[in-house]
Amino acid sequence: MASFPTVFETINDIGMPEINWLLKRTKEIKSLIKSDSLGFQTFFQTTNKIVACTFFEEHSTRTKLSFTRALQLLGAKFINFDSGTSSLKKGESLRETFLTLKAMGVNICIFRCPQSEGLSPFKHKAPFKLINAGDGMNEHPTQALLDLFTMTEENFDQLEGKTVAIVGDCLHSRVSHSLSRLLPQFGMKVLLVGPEEFLPVSEQLPGVEFCRDRDEAIKKCDLLYLLRIQTERHRRSDLLEIDSYIERYGVTLDHLKKLGREIPLYSPGPANIGVEIDEAAISSNLFVGHRQVENGVYMRMAIIEAMCSLNKENVNELPGGIRTI
Ligand code: NCD
Repeated sequence: MASFPTVFETINDIGMPEINWLLKRTKEIKSLIKSDSLGFQTFFQTTNKIVACTFFEEHSTRTKLSFTRALQLLGAKFINFDSGTSSLKKGESLRETFLTLKAMGVNICIFRCPQSEGLSPFKHKAPFKLINAGDGMNEHPTQALLDLFTMTEENFDQLEGKTVAIVGDCLHSRVSHSLSRLLPQFGMKVLLVGPEEFLPVSEQLPGVEFCRDRDEAIKKCDLLYLLRIQTERHRRSDLLEIDSYIERYGVTLDHLKKLGREIPLYSPGPANIGVEIDEAAISSNLFVGHRQVENGVYMRMAIIEAMCSLNKENVNELPGGIRTI
């Protein structure tokens, strides 16, 4: 039976029952929304739960709006917290900020921050439920889950045995870290592809291999996942020689055709056109990025719903039927 944690920080915080529950629920929610079904009851219409969206000092288009859209579709009451104009700027601590939100009735908080493991201090004493929307270089679990869902919908009837090549700045990408923990659980292989300075060396995860050669990876994989260079997280400005990077790791439609590999192209967005991907590839029908965005809303609806209602205390509260979003 699925049971969700109070703080959802990393993929490792949930197990197979939770992941499978989310995949199934996302599919149900998607079909309900797509059929424009009116009159369904959402969990939030019958509770007073309040959600806070707190995106700390980080730019975001997709994740922030995706959570906002998910909350709207759920009919949830939510408040947006703007860290840039908040009392954090007057020196208030994060804990005090959270306690303030809690005092206002917030039950669950969607949280993004530039610090890796920024949620960890709250793991054992959480003021409310927390969902990680990307913490520095650490993890981005909701992105990995929406990617997995998209792979099952768009590309693979069976995940087992498939190889996903994640190309680019794997070391500094939280998306890559979450995917490396998630996909091997389904018998998939993850190939991390990039120059040495962009490959993590410290952690050897089961089902994850490294590859320095883009073309070798393209020939081996079933799906290419293209990462943006995370310059905002580079400690050294000389880490990258951009022209040689594009030459060795950029992906163009022409190049894929030359290699005879017209395979799905994923990106968490934003993509830098002309760097990791060219205009022809991003405009081609190989590019799945916009379907990832669409599915992200449904997956985040499922995650919010599960976090609010499926936990150890009230695991039976939500029947999971299609009319109980
Ligand atoms: C990613 C992120 O913020 O980690 N984007 C996203 O959430 N859609 C990837 C990135 O910024 O490159």
